[in-house]
Amino acid sequence: MAQAQTIPDRIRVISSNEEMSRACREAVKPIGLVPTMGALHAGHLSLVEQARADNLTVVVSIFVNPAQFGDQVDLANYPRDMAGDLDLLRRHGVDLVYAPTVEEVYPPGFNTWVDVGPLAEKLEGIHRPGHFRGVATVVSKLFNVTRPNRAYFGQKDGQQTVVIQKLVKDLDMDVELVVMPTIREPDGLALSSRNVQLSPDQREAAPVLHRALCQAYEQWRDGERRGDTLRETARKVLQSEPRVDSIDYVSVADMTTLGEVERVEDRVMVSVAVQMGSVRLIDNIVLE
Ligand code: PAF
Repeated sequence: MAQAQTIPDRIRVISSNEEMSRACREAVKPIGLVPTMGALHAGHLSLVEQARADNLTVVVSIFVNPAQFGDQVDLANYPRDMAGDLDLLRRHGVDLVYAPTVEEVYPPGFNTWVDVGPLAEKLEGIHRPGHFRGVATVVSKLFNVTRPNRAYFGQKDGQQTVVIQKLVKDLDMDVELVVMPTIREPDGLALSSRNVQLSPDQREAAPVLHRALCQAYEQWRDGERRGDTLRETARKVLQSEPRVDSIDYVSVADMTTLGEVERVEDRVMVSVAVQMGSVRLIDNIVLE
């Protein structure tokens, strides 16, 4: 059943697929979609602002997608703030918010999954098996319901942007992907909804990810091209911070295949993932 709720100005919050499809069919084109899991921060808002500048209708989806979480505790603890999110989106001139329930997205009997192959098995895929199957499936569904002309993603989730580019290409989806730069705190920490889960002590240590990436970047800028040397440099910086409990990976990988490179010739992504207590942090920079 259609459940639409109107809050001041012009934003419409819709939870049913049918109603959302209709609203998007009737909306003035082009449509820009910003897919999110809520708990919005300035990184999301930069995507919304770009979508507002590029399109006549801006749609934001808010859905904490259970299919991309392996760990049920992680899913339960994922930050949620629907009232705060709607307030921010209203103030940023968003037209439509799609906020479906889990049952609306995955009704009983749901059984079709989108698997993007080897790209999804590297880096994050090793540590979060099934994660990108969940992401690719929900993004496909969001695209099908809202039919956007453009969709906006943050470089912060670097592998996700590569996976979604592959998804769009392989399945001939008629949507332009726009990848926006990572937004950082003044001390370099990449904005993430998960940052609120850091203790004050962990928060103080967390910019080490950015420092590690910057050191690799500076070495590359000074002429170093060996992948191993750049990986080693970033790893040493991470290891120098005792509040990093474990390092999941330090990668210097080709931007298209995500294969580790021996030498940096084309565009590569340097990415890191660490565990700090119960919080997992990721970050990346592109060498180009
Ligand atoms: O980046 C995210 O917030 C999520 O992975 C996405 C793209 C909204 C899919 O659930």
